[in-house]
Amino acid sequence: MNKRVLLARYPSGLPVEADFVLDEVPVPEPKDGEFLIRNLYFSLDAGFRQWMREGAGDNYLAAMQIGDPVMSLTLGRVERSRHPDFSEGTLVLGRHAWETFTLTDASDFTAPLEVDPEVPLHLYLGTLGPTGLTAYFGLLDIGQPKAGETVVVSAAGGAVGSIAGQIAKALGCRTVGLTSSDDKAAWLEAEVGYDIGINYNAADGLDAALQRACPEGVDIYFDNVGGAILDTTLTHLRQNARVVLCGMVADYHDADKPYGITHLWQAITKRATLKGFMYTDEVARYPEAMARMRGWLDAGAIRTFDEIHEGIETTPAAFCGLFTGANRGKAIIEL
Ligand SMILES: NC(=O)c1ccc[n+]([C@@H]2O[C@H](COP(=O)([O-])OP(=O)(O)OC[C@H]3O[C@@H](n4cnc5c(N)ncnc54)[C@H](OP(=O)(O)O)[C@@H]3O)[C@@H](O)[C@H]2O)c1
Repeated sequence: MNKRVLLARYPSGLPVEADFVLDEVPVPEPKDGEFLIRNLYFSLDAGFRQWMREGAGDNYLAAMQIGDPVMSLTLGRVERSRHPDFSEGTLVLGRHAWETFTLTDASDFTAPLEVDPEVPLHLYLGTLGPTGLTAYFGLLDIGQPKAGETVVVSAAGGAVGSIAGQIAKALGCRTVGLTSSDDKAAWLEAEVGYDIGINYNAADGLDAALQRACPEGVDIYFDNVGGAILDTTLTHLRQNARVVLCGMVADYHDADKPYGITHLWQAITKRATLKGFMYTDEVARYPEAMARMRGWLDAGAIRTFDEIHEGIETTPAAFCGLFTGANRGKAIIEL
């Protein structure tokens, strides 16, 4: 049987487990031009909350439909094939749903995956996959880090943030990580390697904490969250600062009323650059990025923080945890 996680209703505000429901249907059979994938891992990505909304379709992805398996990124192995380019046994990565088996004709960004057997497979969803590529292209292309510069990262211990912070450190920058609790701030310093971890919920506030941590100002702000955290950090930019607009998780559950940024004026007087990006624009440079990430991993310059949950039943709770800060590192479901 094919076990699936369906979207039971559109989340209202923060996603909760009751927004999802599990079911089981017979495993489908491939027709000519199709193949069946047995999924091994699901990637949990906060960004997919954006398309769990009526009419949320944009020019990038269509809105998810109630009753359909939830759209995601998965890594799996071809189980049966009637497609000329995907033979049985091939490992594949693609934009497939939360289900144990995926039937596809490869039109959903399915690509064969070349792996090094020495590397744990789930790293190809995290540090050596979409997460690592996002941190790499955002930080290097837009951030343009130079040794000695101060780099602030929000959701600093999350999937993308933990990698962005470590790459910045490997390049000789001073790194400051923003997170939601004292515990996580201490972990950012002790384990992830940030020079300073800041709990933006602490009583004295983010503004005072940034003033203490970055008295000379912020050269690069790698922003995963948007909202009030972006707004406050804009007031700490240094001349010629770069702001990497990677994600806006603080706004994902309230897209009808996104936070109104009030300090954009700072970008003018500080001659700052604010730029958004999608890692998928850089497909031609994936090999370059992967090779460099692998080099940093092998040299011990960056570590992987993967939070692996066992079994498809754990998917809804683990996904909801991304919006309460429950996760540390990359959240992955192992099937
Ligand atoms: N542009 C691209 O190509 C691209 C690709 C992939 C992902 N992204 C974006 O990158 C960001 C991070 O995604 P991820 O999958 O790596 O997730 P993640 O960082 O592993 O998990 C989300 C984290 O966001 C923080 N957070 C959640 N709700 C928040 C709120 N209301 N205000 C402030 N912080 C909040 C929490 O961290 P704390 O507890 O530390 O605050 C949480 O752990 C997302 O915005 C995503 O859309 C962009």
